[in-house]
Amino acid sequence: MIEEQLIEEIRSRNDIVSVISSYVKLERRGSSYFGLCPFHNEKSPSFSVSPQKQMYYCFGCGEGGNVISFIMKYENYDFMEALKFLADRVGITLPEQNDGGESRRRNERRQQLLAVQQEAAKYYYYMLKNDPQQTGYRYLSGRGLTDDTILRFGLGFSGRGAGELYRYLHKKEYSDDILKESGLFTFEEKGVKDKFWNRVMFPIMDVNNRVIGFGGRVLGDAKPKYLNSPETQLFDKSRNLYGLNYARSARKNYIILCEGYMDVIALHQAGFTNAVAALGTSFTSGHASLLKRYTHEVYCTFDSDDAGIRAALRAIPILKGAGLSVRVIHMDPYKDPDEFIKALGTDAFAERIRQAQNSFFFEISVLEKGYDRADPEQKTAFYRAVSAKLVETFPEEMERSNYTEAVANEFSIPYEMLRSDVQKRALYYKEVPGEPVLAAESPDKRETVRRQKKESGSNRTQKILLSWLIEEPDLFFSLRPYITEQDFTNPVYRQVAGLLFKQIENGALEPSGILSRFEDPEIQKEVTALFYPPEKAEYKTADKEKILNDTVRLLKQNYLDELGRSAEDIETLQMIAMEKANLQKMHIKLN
Ligand code: UTP
Ligand code: MN
Repeated sequence: MIEEQLIEEIRSRNDIVSVISSYVKLERRGSSYFGLCPFHNEKSPSFSVSPQKQMYYCFGCGEGGNVISFIMKYENYDFMEALKFLADRVGITLPEQNDGGESRRRNERRQQLLAVQQEAAKYYYYMLKNDPQQTGYRYLSGRGLTDDTILRFGLGFSGRGAGELYRYLHKKEYSDDILKESGLFTFEEKGVKDKFWNRVMFPIMDVNNRVIGFGGRVLGDAKPKYLNSPETQLFDKSRNLYGLNYARSARKNYIILCEGYMDVIALHQAGFTNAVAALGTSFTSGHASLLKRYTHEVYCTFDSDDAGIRAALRAIPILKGAGLSVRVIHMDPYKDPDEFIKALGTDAFAERIRQAQNSFFFEISVLEKGYDRADPEQKTAFYRAVSAKLVETFPEEMERSNYTEAVANEFSIPYEMLRSDVQKRALYYKEVPGEPVLAAESPDKRETVRRQKKESGSNRTQKILLSWLIEEPDLFFSLRPYITEQDFTNPVYRQVAGLLFKQIENGALEPSGILSRFEDPEIQKEVTALFYPPEKAEYKTADKEKILNDTVRLLKQNYLDELGRSAEDIETLQMIAMEKANLQKMHIKLN
């Protein structure tokens, strides 16, 4: 590990404004600089860089961090690579790691692995173009792809023999060790074989256009239709989306999510350059948070068969869980976007985009198919299911009521009836926690939902208090007798609290220094958000004291609750009860 002091020196000698200026055009506005966010598509600048805080933050997509995290994200570097880059930039030489060169070796290895994928892609492309029989090329152009498209996506052909790529790379002096890890070969007693042969090849690129893996399609009807690279050090399937390297800069305010390689390519060729696909794996929350970096809205065009509908139903809550709004594009009577565009053309697809269905309506229309509404009993069951789904999906009353009205309209359900049922359920849902309200829902699930809600409440309290302290560090001296970092149950916030308290005591608040302690970009983002609270309330003194007391009380209450959940002996439980009683008497005075 590199010493903290050195990390701090590298960070502070790389002024964030000058580093980011070489990537993003920034303009001064007040005490900050603004520009177009490089991490999502936007037309007016909401990406801010603060020279005082030495941090950046995008008010559009919530991406944020310090100079190290910017380089990590922009260049897709890991922490050490970013540090090295910034050290070089200001002429600091990093000491040889006392891990015996381990991290340098790891970095070199990564570079070699990338080089292998790049070489393989070039080889496949060369084969596509130079195969005397033009097998792969004829297949792709037969499917309507132009030369430009083939080049843009780097499509290729893996050749006929089962060892050609291996021989080629071996001659280029890549070690077996590296080749083994590339995922492109099978090493057996009898010898080494190419994993892909006689297939058209689709290189998979990360957001920075670096090849990290491949998909290969058979030319005919054999199985498996597509073969994909296994996960490797480079290729994490749940954190990459096919086509995102282009879609991220399509400058549209939504992203089209589809199922296959050919769908993405056909859409891009037709001008819908904001299309992506999750490949060789089902859609995960990792994919969703990746998308969230670039957009607020996702249009799904999954296959119109049963499997596609199931996939859409699975993906919708994951997308919404990441805070994205979701619509569904219908492809029927065609199977997928590729076939649709081939049959009906670009304009017809654009029309389908305009008609895309709100994802909640889509979920209800799938639900509707399970009931025969001519049968009174099933009709009742359907209404019930709709009402349950409304309550489950929309905890917030205004949204729920708007949706109730819209759904009643759309699905010809008597409005008054639906409304009153929804209201009853919503009441029950709130006031009798622990009682399973929804027939289809298990108590287990309700318990989880309840705990999640509570946890997020507790996180919010911790967040508010930290942001408040960052905004008004002097407050800390009034709080010091009452709180410690232990009161923060979220491990990240606990660590931030510890660092922050120490900085305030030493009289030197250095927000960006706190950030360097976290290497994971997602966590850096979370921590940055603390420094950019959504609303800065200005409290009257009387109110402020009360609010502060309430917040601290809640913080400690949550901490004690958490402690209580894991407590095993009576003494601890008694101690908790006593502390809780004391809490009621606590009063923090502001001077
Ligand atoms: P589909 O079977 O819908 O194929 O698989 P497709 O995309 O329409 O392919 P074409 O048009 O026949 O060429 C959708 C996606 O699921 C993955 C691939 O990523 C594919 O694009 N898949 C499918 C596999 O990984 N392996 C398979 O054997 C089949
Ligand atoms: Mn297809």
